[in-house]
Amino acid sequence: MEILSDITEMQRRCLALREAGKRIAFVPTMGYLHAGHLSLLHEGRRRGDVLVLSIFVNPTQFGEGEDLDSYPRDFERDEVLAREVGVDLIFYPHVEDIYPPGYCSYLSVEGDLTATLEGACRPGHFRGVATVVSKLFNIVQPHQALFGRKDFQQLATIEQMIRDFNFPVEIVGMPIVREPDGLAMSSRNVYLSDDERRQSLALNQSLTLAAELAREGESNAHKILEVALKRLTAEPDLVIDYVKICNADTLEDVETVDQRSVMLLAVKVGTTRLIDNSFLIGQI
Ligand code: PAF
Repeated sequence: MEILSDITEMQRRCLALREAGKRIAFVPTMGYLHAGHLSLLHEGRRRGDVLVLSIFVNPTQFGEGEDLDSYPRDFERDEVLAREVGVDLIFYPHVEDIYPPGYCSYLSVEGDLTATLEGACRPGHFRGVATVVSKLFNIVQPHQALFGRKDFQQLATIEQMIRDFNFPVEIVGMPIVREPDGLAMSSRNVYLSDDERRQSLALNQSLTLAAELAREGESNAHKILEVALKRLTAEPDLVIDYVKICNADTLEDVETVDQRSVMLLAVKVGTTRLIDNSFLIGQI
């Protein structure tokens, strides 16, 4: 396994690999790897001749007052995990190389897809995500790139960007990986105190209750949301940013639940913001 920080060297290496006929599978991350990332890397290992992991805490996707400075980082640990999974190349660029002085180009996926949910709560977030992912794609030149479905709206935004900008990359969405008690894996889980960790279980539990109700035949989205909200508000320290039932393709709110309905939520537990989602009846 090699670790490269230099952008030109990384791009040169990846172009040479492509020319040699190697298929590049790419997993972009912000590091502090957990089992969710590892599932992407295992799948990438299976799909690609060469497996590339990027580790870059991208400042442009963090808003004012968000956790950019405190975002967990542990490169040595990530390196060990990456080696175990069989990563070939880690791309670990410096912020000042990705965004040098005078940097002024951004990619913005516009419209309803990014205006709602995370886009409404975190203005500029998806502009930062789309910008860095497009830059990483230009550097790594992947055939396939793997993303987790926990960031449901991020995945939809990247798929839209791929279509709109004709990136020759296949996007692979991967299932959410959960702790044994149901909490969705996230690098931010490390911030949670024991009590916050316990209260956070309400996220997955509210999704499960909602899905049970929908599968029993309840199709009224408002009634399902009421039950989910009741479970969430039973915890004293949860502050809800949103709980919505949306169409999985457009992310528009739905009144009547069907196979394409997904429930998405974002909740603050103390100072930690967690997101989660689940299809209610159908599968991906
Ligand atoms: O999902 C993430 O970890 C980040 O948003 C990504 C896709 C690596 C872009 O910085």
